[in-house]
Amino acid sequence: MTIVTGVTVRVPAKLNLQLAVGPPRADGYHHLVTVFHAVSLFDEVTAEPAERDGVTVTGEGADRVPVGQDNLALRAVAALRGVPGKGQGTGQGMGRAGPGPAGVHITIAKRIPVAAGLAGGSADAAAALVACNDLWDGGLSQPQLLEVAARVGSDVAFALLGGTAVGRGRGERLTPALAPATRYHWVLAFADGHLSTPEVYAALDRLRTAGPANRAGRGERVPRDQPGPAEPGLDTGLMSALRSGDAGLVGRALSNDLQPAALSMFPALRKTLAAGLELGALGALVAGSGPTCVFLAASAERALDLAVSMSGAGVCRSVARVTGPVPGAVIVPPVK
Ligand code: C5P
Repeated sequence: MTIVTGVTVRVPAKLNLQLAVGPPRADGYHHLVTVFHAVSLFDEVTAEPAERDGVTVTGEGADRVPVGQDNLALRAVAALRGVPGKGQGTGQGMGRAGPGPAGVHITIAKRIPVAAGLAGGSADAAAALVACNDLWDGGLSQPQLLEVAARVGSDVAFALLGGTAVGRGRGERLTPALAPATRYHWVLAFADGHLSTPEVYAALDRLRTAGPANRAGRGERVPRDQPGPAEPGLDTGLMSALRSGDAGLVGRALSNDLQPAALSMFPALRKTLAAGLELGALGALVAGSGPTCVFLAASAERALDLAVSMSGAGVCRSVARVTGPVPGAVIVPPVK
């Protein structure tokens, strides 16, 4: 008999190949249309029975992750607890029934940098959902988990789904993108610093209300008329580029409405983006709310060349080569 003591889940970082941002909503979030793309930079999250809930974080940027109840993985655990699981239709939440300790300890081994625009915290939350659903034998289906995920954060549902998908609403309403099985080669340039997502959204709102004359005076490139449209639109050019599987077309179609705001807060990123394009990237953009910069390469070899040259150019803290799309959160089989 195998005794299961813990469940480990591997979960990817995300890029936004398009991020179109509308005006702020009444709840403070922004209407979005985005094309999410999961890439091969993974965190590993382990859930184990414990007397009380807790979290330990190790690896890349661990000291910047909160370990109290505001940790996104613990918030995901709390959200899952409220849901009746398999055989618990009496209204009793998951993880409460049965013998054994009532709590869960979450251990997060981070490789996705924190506050880098790659949705690392959301990824950890998604992984915690998958791990606890398995640990507690909750039996929730993926659509049920996606519903819980959408309540926890804007990017959590996509970290469950993975692949390439269109996100609407505040990013949580997902439609998988139909595209051929093309593997894209990306180089990520990690910055020496962090950006706060709410602050970058607020900076975009300010840029949009500042008026074109003021923006021109500051040299900001604003991608659309201010204020943003009520319903931002999906970029059909990007979608047909993805359907063609042509990396050159995809590279030219990458766009991010948050980029001018991120650049206004972190001007050094302009140099990073320019360096990548000069060194032959097919396209370049800031990842989500930044400050990571993302470059698309024509092949694995070109990605290696680009990564080596970027690290030599002194325009970022470090680089990583990743590929996409990759699947969302998956359970790592226990070593026998
Ligand atoms: O949902 P999540 O907690 O990941 O979002 C982090 C922050 O990013 C939000 O508190 C909000 O300030 C901003 N945000 C937004 N509009 C979205 C998604 C996120 O304004 N659609």
